[in-house]
Amino acid sequence: MNVMPEQTLIRPSTDADIEPMLAIYRHHIRRGVDPSYFGDDGALLPDDLKRRRRNMRKHRLPHLVADRRGGVVGYAYAVLFRKRPAYRYTVKHSIYVHHDHLHSGIGKVLLPALIDACAAAGYRQLIAYIDAANAPSLRLHEQCGFRQVGYLPSVGYKFGHWTDVVMVQRSLASGGTAPPEAWLAPPADED
Ligand SMILES: CC(C)(COP(=O)(O)OP(=O)(O)OC[C@H]1O[C@@H](n2cnc3c(N)ncnc32)[C@H](O)[C@@H]1OP(=O)(O)O)[C@@H](O)C(=O)NCCC(=O)NCCS
Repeated sequence: MNVMPEQTLIRPSTDADIEPMLAIYRHHIRRGVDPSYFGDDGALLPDDLKRRRRNMRKHRLPHLVADRRGGVVGYAYAVLFRKRPAYRYTVKHSIYVHHDHLHSGIGKVLLPALIDACAAAGYRQLIAYIDAANAPSLRLHEQCGFRQVGYLPSVGYKFGHWTDVVMVQRSLASGGTAPPEAWLAPPADED
C-alpha cells in the first residue's frame, strides 16, 4: 500500500507561532543537539524570539514554519553569518522539527524552502554548524546540496564530554560566480 506523506505547508512565521516554536526549541536544547547552545538551559523567552523575528524582517531574513493541520511542526530561519558588511551576502541557519514528527519528511520540505527563500532574498552562501554526532542533520544537509567545508574538533563541552562540530555550506543562485545584487543594505544590529 502506498502511504502518502502528510501534507506540510511551509509559510513565514508569525508572532502567534512563537509559543509552539519555543516548545520545539526547548525539547531539542535539553537533548543538546544544537552546537550554538552548549549549556543553554532552554530559557529562551518569547520576547527574545519576537525581537529576533523583527530583526530578521528588517534584513529580509527568512523565518519559516512547517504547518501540519494548523499546528507548527517545525521551523527554520537564517541569520547573518557575520555582522561585518563584507559578509552581508552570507547567512547561516537553524532548523528544528517537532520531536513527535521526526523523520516524517518535514526537514526535506522545510530546508529546501529556506534555501529558496534565502536565494530569493539575494543571499549567495548558506552555512550551518552541525554537531558531529547529529547524523540526521548531517544527512539532511547533504541531501539538500550542502558539503562539508570544515571540522572543528572538541569545540564544545556538554553532558560531560567534548564535542566536535561540522561546518557545511552551499551556494545560492549564482553563488560566487557573479557579483551580488547591489541592493542589500549593510547589516546593523542583528543578534
Ligand atoms: C535534523 C532534522 C531537522 C531533520 O528533520 P526531519 O524532518 O526529521 O527529516 P526528514 O524526515 O525530512 O528526513 C530527511 C533526511 O534526513 C535524514 N534523517 C532524518 N532522520 C534521520 C534519522 N533518525 N536517522 C538517520 N537519518 C535521518 C535522512 O537522510 C532523511 O532522508 P530519508 O528519509 O530519505 O532517508 C530533525 O531531525 C531535527 O529537528 N532534529 C533536532 C534538531 C536539530 O538537530 N536541528 C539541526 C541542528 S544543525
